[in-house]
Amino acid sequence: GETHRYRVGVLTVSDRSARGEREDLAGPLIRELVEKDSYLVVDQSIVPDDQKTIEEALIRLADQVKVDLILTTGGTGFSVRDVTPEATMAVAGRNAPGIAEAIRAYSGTITPRAMLSRAASVIRGRTLIVNLPGSPKAVRESLDFVLPNLYHGLDVLK
Ligand code: MTE
Repeated sequence: GETHRYRVGVLTVSDRSARGEREDLAGPLIRELVEKDSYLVVDQSIVPDDQKTIEEALIRLADQVKVDLILTTGGTGFSVRDVTPEATMAVAGRNAPGIAEAIRAYSGTITPRAMLSRAASVIRGRTLIVNLPGSPKAVRESLDFVLPNLYHGLDVLK
C-alpha cells in the first residue's frame, strides 16, 4: 500500500556503542522517526569508527540488501576517529551534496555548531546515502526537515 514505500538501512557509527559501552539511542530514534513516515527499516546495525568497516557496511546495504535509503548517524565531526563522510564518499557513485548542505543550513538556524558536521550525501547505484550527526537531538532536527523532501529523489532513483 501507500505506507512504507521506501526500504531503509540504519547504520550507527560509534566506537563505544559498537563495544557495548554506550547504549545506541540515535539508531532506534531514526527507526522510530522514519517509520512514522513512509519508510520501513529493514536493516539496523552498529559499527565502530573504522573507515573500511563503515565502507563494507554501506556496500552490503546498497548492493546486497538493496535498500532505497541508508541513514548513518555519528562520526561526522572533527575528532580524528570521525571518518563516516570519508567512508561514504569512498563508496559513492555520484555525489548528491544538496541534501547534506540543506541539513547543515537548516540546522544552523537551531545551533551554529551545525557547521561542525562534515556530513556527506551521495548515491551508490539505486541507493541514496545520507550522513546524520551522532546526537539524538541532531538526528531528530535533521530528519524532521529532510524526510518529507526525499520522496521525489527516491522515486526518480528507483
Ligand atoms: N545538527 C543539528 N541539527 N543539531 C545539533 O545539535 N550538533 C552539531 C552538528 N550538527 C548538531 C548538529 C555538533 S555539536 C557536531 S560536533 C556535529 O554535528 C558532528 O556531530 P557527530 O560528530 O556526532 O557526527
